[in-house]
Amino acid sequence: MAGRRLLDPAAPALERCVAAEDPKSAVRVFVAARHDVVSGVLCEEAVFSLRHYDDLLEQVLPGTRYLVGENDAARQVRLRQLHTAQGWLDAERGKATTQGEPNMAPGFRSWVAAMAREEAAAILNVLRRRASTGEPVNFVRDYAFLIAWRMARRIIGVPAPDAVPGMVRLMVFARNVMRPGPALRLKDELGDAAAMLLMQQALFGHVFGTVVNSKGWMRWLARKTATPALDAIDAALALPEVAPHDSLVSALAAVKPQFAGVEDYDLQARSVLFELTGALVLIVGKSLSEMAAFACSPEGARAGIGWDRLVSLLADPGASQQAHDATINEALRLTGGSRLTRTVRSDGPWRGVDLQAGDRVVVLIDAASRDPAAFPDPGRFAPDPARPYITSGPLQGPHLCYGRGIAWTILREAIAATQGRIAPVGNAQMALFAGLPDDLPFIASRRQI
Ligand code: HEM
Repeated sequence: MAGRRLLDPAAPALERCVAAEDPKSAVRVFVAARHDVVSGVLCEEAVFSLRHYDDLLEQVLPGTRYLVGENDAARQVRLRQLHTAQGWLDAERGKATTQGEPNMAPGFRSWVAAMAREEAAAILNVLRRRASTGEPVNFVRDYAFLIAWRMARRIIGVPAPDAVPGMVRLMVFARNVMRPGPALRLKDELGDAAAMLLMQQALFGHVFGTVVNSKGWMRWLARKTATPALDAIDAALALPEVAPHDSLVSALAAVKPQFAGVEDYDLQARSVLFELTGALVLIVGKSLSEMAAFACSPEGARAGIGWDRLVSLLADPGASQQAHDATINEALRLTGGSRLTRTVRSDGPWRGVDLQAGDRVVVLIDAASRDPAAFPDPGRFAPDPARPYITSGPLQGPHLCYGRGIAWTILREAIAATQGRIAPVGNAQMALFAGLPDDLPFIASRRQI
């Protein structure tokens, strides 16, 4: 409701939201919804800091940081590690980038696309047998989170831990008791995908879902589940020879000699690997599931995007990469519902609102994504490269989403590959478990193309 109210051009830029405050803390909370205001909050780093994310990570995993954090000296090291490693990878592939962002370069994206096509085909070939048995395909578990994990494994290079942590086993047990349908098993690659997801989920909830303070049980769960993921990264960094040669693990090991003065190189590198693995495993799998669910829903039909249309737009070989990106972004815009938080650095007015140091500002990406001032006829699916891609956070500045080109490429390839192979059952509806997509019923086509 606040989102709708604040979209009125006459409304104040920010509105206080007492309901989101913690009675035990003096921190005030404001919300922002208009597209221009949300972009301002995300881009004006001199006014709004990302300290909040650092503090939340420190509570659970001391020393670990995301690039989504304060732009301090340690973050500068991590950025340099990422860019140097990316340069090494490009040179290895003979695709050195001369201008622009390396992770958005056509050569890099076509490499990601080729891998995504290969992984999608491999998964769909296994699912093909279900056309004769009639066994349903769970798009979320059998496809979206599996391809996301396989892509993380190849691009980043971190393996699943040798043993599934006890807490993850317990969470899977709870899921299997509470959800109908086939049980989720912790074996093979499907098990690895589920385990890696659960090792990131509580931490993401704690860091990105907390506005002022998270609950004690949440911190405990995040620590218990994320620590084994960090241990797996330490193990991968200690043995880079066994990682895929063109993965980020190999690249970070190869460029280490260029960081002679950086004593905590491995600590920073592990943060980079941890963040990127989490983004691939969790955000890409979740976004793919949510886009599919939206395209299968009556709301999607009303917006003018059914599943078949989405697939044919993305499978069209004559369309440019720019057109495919616009389709993905438009689907993400109509689907996404994330919120991001910033902390006010110092007392003073901002766009007519008096703020105090320490205030939190929550930006409602879902409301900004439907602001008619930025998106004419905002409820319609109208892909257009000129539309801003607000779902990937800031549109400029030091905190641009690093993986947007990777994500758009994987999402496009994963959806296009389903053409003639799997399709939603009639009235397919997505089921959630613990806040994440859990099931979306599809079937394998009898006449596979
Ligand atoms: C559709 C998928 C994705 C969405 C919707 C998405 C969204 C976002 C958003 C909203 C932010 C800004 C967070 C903030 O400022 O508080 C962000 C930043 C970031 N994303 Fe993504 N992301 C996606 C995929 C990925 C992937 C696949 C990767 C890594 C391979 C990635 C890596 C990052 C990194 C490293 C940042 C931090 C940039 C910085 O602060 O320096 N993202 N993303």
